[in-house]
Amino acid sequence: MAKNLLSINDLSKDEIIDLIEFSNNFIDDEGNFRKEDLFPDKTIANVFCEPSTRTKSSFAIAANNLGCSVIDFNIDNSSIQKGESILETVDALHLMGVDLCVLRHPESVIKDLADYLPSMTFINAGEGSISHPTQALIDLKTIIDHKNSLDGLKIVIVGDLDHSRVTSSFLEGISNFDIDSLIFSGHPEMCTKYQNPKFGSYEPDMQKALQDADVVMTLRIQYERFDQDLNLDLDTYKSSYQLSSEKLEFAKGDAIIMHPGPVNYVEITEAVYDSENSVIRQQVANGVAIRMAVLSRFLSS
Ligand code: CP
Repeated sequence: MAKNLLSINDLSKDEIIDLIEFSNNFIDDEGNFRKEDLFPDKTIANVFCEPSTRTKSSFAIAANNLGCSVIDFNIDNSSIQKGESILETVDALHLMGVDLCVLRHPESVIKDLADYLPSMTFINAGEGSISHPTQALIDLKTIIDHKNSLDGLKIVIVGDLDHSRVTSSFLEGISNFDIDSLIFSGHPEMCTKYQNPKFGSYEPDMQKALQDADVVMTLRIQYERFDQDLNLDLDTYKSSYQLSSEKLEFAKGDAIIMHPGPVNYVEITEAVYDSENSVIRQQVANGVAIRMAVLSRFLSS
């Protein structure tokens, strides 16, 4: 296994399957997370330079469940506010005994940090619009939980794909499996990259895209990553690209509905979020199990 998890491409297919299967060991028959004091001598730092609820909290819970000490690094109260660079910051944490850094950053800095600090382990918890490997592991696990296998599935991804690190890491992960088809849908100006057939098929008509889908992944508009005002008419957007109960009728009856969160209810209605097809809340819970597996494997390697 690689020393760092910077991208899903750092993992072989066997390692992806191992992490997903290993994560199941951390959930008991009642659905609770097991607490195992496996790494009492390890310290991890949660360094989040962008907002997060699920990823940051689930890494902290996972690390606590494994018996690690956790540094909840708060960028707003740190010496980054006094001009210290991210490299100096992480180096200082390393000098104080941090073994593993979980990093979310708006820019692609994690590879340079990993090269500069080879005796520290890095886990990518979100790199700008580029990648979010542990989210991809969560998404793959959630699909397998419900469909038993990834093979032969029709998967549809809808929303602001161009800014989505969730999409790019998911595509890296899914490329290891023999799915039936991958369809992208969404506003053409939010899917410019995915109109290239090398990634899959782009279908701007969401109802056509959803036809007989097994898995529908919905994504919010990432307003924070647009350079200029969108001038978007939300009602028009919703009528074309919001996953509603009416549009869901085009997918298979047992299709699962996914969303990495946070949900804005522009990209999906509350009724679909709360429907029997929705596995969105299970994705959140799977985050703890997957991150326990990831921390265990990378702290041991
Ligand atoms: N899915 C995800 O990364 O959520 P957070 O931004 O809340 O961590």
